[in-house]
Amino acid sequence: MTITMVKKRLANGGACRKCDQAEDMLKTRQLWDKIGRVAWADETNPDSEGNRLAREHGVELAPFFIIEDNGDTKVYTSTVKFAKDLAALNGSAPVSAEAPARATPAFNDPSVVRYQIPADGLERVPPRDVVKQALLAFGEKCGIAFSGAEDVVLIDMALKTGLPFSVFSIDTGRLHPETYRFLDKVREHYGIDIHVVTPEPLPVEALVRKKGLYSFYQDGHQECCEVRKVSSLRRVLRGYEAWMTGQRRDQSPTRTDLAVVAWDTTQQRSPGELAKFNPLATWSLSETWDYIRANGVPTNELHERGFISIGCEPCTRATRPGEHERAGRWWWEDATKRECGLHVPHVDRGAGI
Ligand code: ADX
Ligand code: SF4
Repeated sequence: MTITMVKKRLANGGACRKCDQAEDMLKTRQLWDKIGRVAWADETNPDSEGNRLAREHGVELAPFFIIEDNGDTKVYTSTVKFAKDLAALNGSAPVSAEAPARATPAFNDPSVVRYQIPADGLERVPPRDVVKQALLAFGEKCGIAFSGAEDVVLIDMALKTGLPFSVFSIDTGRLHPETYRFLDKVREHYGIDIHVVTPEPLPVEALVRKKGLYSFYQDGHQECCEVRKVSSLRRVLRGYEAWMTGQRRDQSPTRTDLAVVAWDTTQQRSPGELAKFNPLATWSLSETWDYIRANGVPTNELHERGFISIGCEPCTRATRPGEHERAGRWWWEDATKRECGLHVPHVDRGAGI
């Protein structure tokens, strides 16, 4: 028997409230582990899997559920009815419409204080346990920011926890074709949804009209990164309560002080509102690649051609032997300025809400 839940993903990257409530209800009734998979109906993508399933089964709105059993297919648009039938199918006591006491973390209940940053800042906690802590606290409200090799390590670890999580990637419009193929390779390898976020078109058009497509070689990358990357990040993070990145301290002089976990107050959010996890902060490049090889984690084919740190195509080149891993990023600029602005260092390491 295969059970699929279809959830709606809003344009801001978050799940719709009704879908979250449906998921909570199943969790409280200990039925969540019966859901084999979640398919997303992306508000911005009519061809996303969830929207295709909706058309196929004549359903207008997510959430809905599909039970496939020996060639029989049953579709439920009522979560309560679905939960009742599912409990009966599994021989549990019949469920009432009122939820019993919570048995699992209340991922979507705003009255629940989700997380307290431990005093040790998780400094000595192994990356996979940092990932687990983040997902236990935030579930799908935690978005893994995905673009490179480190981020797939996080996805691999996240999947192995068995807990819900989300993944987003910012498509600046200037990525290598190899990177686009890599995104899809990861999506297929793990069978996950990746919310690909694109920049607002008007500011991009205005910049290109005024300065052309390569102004960053003359006056620095900040302006283009702002309209293509940073503003897209701001938008997508509005849908999350936590995010996770693959940054490491040894990547750059700008990252030596990177926290494993901190409140991110750079997105017009107060301490306690948006947690930022950097589970690989204490790892080296070689520890990361050891994990990739040992776990068969998919990689970007550009790594086979001398690329280590990979960003947009015009701003990334392969590195020569002996060069630092980020020497190929914005190579015409000072090494202390080679941050696109996605990661502003002043985050709050305070003890939590
Ligand atoms: S950057 O600031 O120089 O561009 P870098 O490429 O080192 O960042 O990536 C550091 C982390 O930022 C990645 O591990 C990933 O979590 C996040 N990140 C970078 N670029 C993107 C992107 N295009 N989409 C989503 N996350 C990204
Ligand atoms: Fe623009 Fe280069 Fe920044 Fe990409 S990395 S957003 S192309 S300046």
